[in-house]
Amino acid sequence: ELGGHAHYMLKEIREQPETVTDACRGRLIRAEGTAHFGGLNLSPRQLRRVRRVVFAACGTSWHAAMVGEYLIERLADLPVEVEYASEFRYRNAPLDDRTLVFVLSQSGETADTLGALREARRRGHPTLAIVNTVGSTIAREADGGIYLHAGPEVGVASTKAFSAQVVVLAMLALHLGRLRHLSFPDGMAVLEAIESVPALMGEVLKTEAKIDEAAALMTQARNALYLGRDIHFPVALEGALKLKEISYLHAEGYPTAEMKHGPIALVDRETPCVFVAPKGSLHAKTLSNVEEVKARHGTIIGVGTEGDEGLASLSDIFLPIPEAPEVIQPLLAVVPLQLLAYHVARRRGCDIDKPRNLAKSVTVE
Ligand code: M6R
Repeated sequence: ELGGHAHYMLKEIREQPETVTDACRGRLIRAEGTAHFGGLNLSPRQLRRVRRVVFAACGTSWHAAMVGEYLIERLADLPVEVEYASEFRYRNAPLDDRTLVFVLSQSGETADTLGALREARRRGHPTLAIVNTVGSTIAREADGGIYLHAGPEVGVASTKAFSAQVVVLAMLALHLGRLRHLSFPDGMAVLEAIESVPALMGEVLKTEAKIDEAAALMTQARNALYLGRDIHFPVALEGALKLKEISYLHAEGYPTAEMKHGPIALVDRETPCVFVAPKGSLHAKTLSNVEEVKARHGTIIGVGTEGDEGLASLSDIFLPIPEAPEVIQPLLAVVPLQLLAYHVARRRGCDIDKPRNLAKSVTVE
C-alpha cells in the first residue's frame, strides 16, 4: 500500500500534484474564467447576497481556512473571519442573515467542527462544508458543500488534505469573485494559475534532497520559528504545526514583522528560523527581517522564489520554489515545510505516521 514510500505521510506529500488535479477536476470553467461547484445548493442570486463569510475549523483545516481568508478578500472583496470551531460554537458570535458559514474538515468527524456546524444551523444559517470523507457526519449534516476528492489520508499529520482545501478555497474565491467585480481576464489569470499548480508542485518535490539538508540543521534544535507575511503567515503556522506534531520540537509560527514584538528574544545560534518568503509585494521588508535574525546568529532556512539571490545569500540553506503568482504560492511553499518536518522527525527516529498523543480524527471535545 505504501508503494515504495517509507511512510504514509511521505506518500501523501508526494501525491499532492495528483491531489490538486483531482480537487480541480470538472470545476474550472475556461469559457467563463471561473470555477463551478455542483453541491453548494445555493443559486448565484443567493450567493451574490452574501456579505460576509465565516470559516470554522480545527488544526490544519483552520490554517487552510486562513489562506482562504486572504484569497477571498483579495479575489472576491468579501470580509472573512476564521474561527477555531471549539471557540466559535460557544461564543456569542454575531452573525447576520447575509453571513455564509463554512466548516472545513478532512475527516468530517471532528467533534468541535461538527458542534460549530450544528450551532450555526440551529441559528438558521445556510451552512456549507468543505470535507474530504464522503458520507461523513459533517458532510451529511451540512446544507451543501464541496468535497476535496483527496482520497483517504492515513498519516496523522495532514498534508494532502491541506493542499486540496487550499485549492478548493482558491476556486471558491474565484467563483465568488466572478459573481461580483472580478473581470473575465482577471478570473482567467487565476484559473490558469490554478491549472499550473500540479506541475509546479512536481518541481518542488524534486528538491527533497536539499530539504533533507535543511532538516539536518534542525535535528538538534529545541525551538524553531516559522515566519511568513500575508498569505504566507498561515503557511508558516502550518509548517510549525507539522514540526511539533511529528518531531516533538517546539515551533511557533508568527507573522514575520511581529517577530520583533517578542519572539526575537528566542533567537540564538541554536534557534532555526524558517522564513516563508517567496517574492511578492512585501519582499524587501521581509529581507530586512531576515537580516535582523542573521545579526543574532540564528540559523536561517529561506523558502523563496528560485533565483532570489537576496534571500539565498542571507540563508544558511535556501529552499527554492518556482516563480508563480501570489495566489498559488501557498500551495508550493507548504511542500518544503511538510518535507522538512518529515525529515527532521525521521532523523530523530520518531513514529511519523502515528505521533504520540494524537489521533487521526479528534472525536472528543
Ligand atoms: O479532520 P479535520 O480536518 O477536522 O481535523 C482537524 C485537526 O484535528 C487536524 O487538522 C490536526 O490538526 C492534524 N493532525 C494536523 O496535521
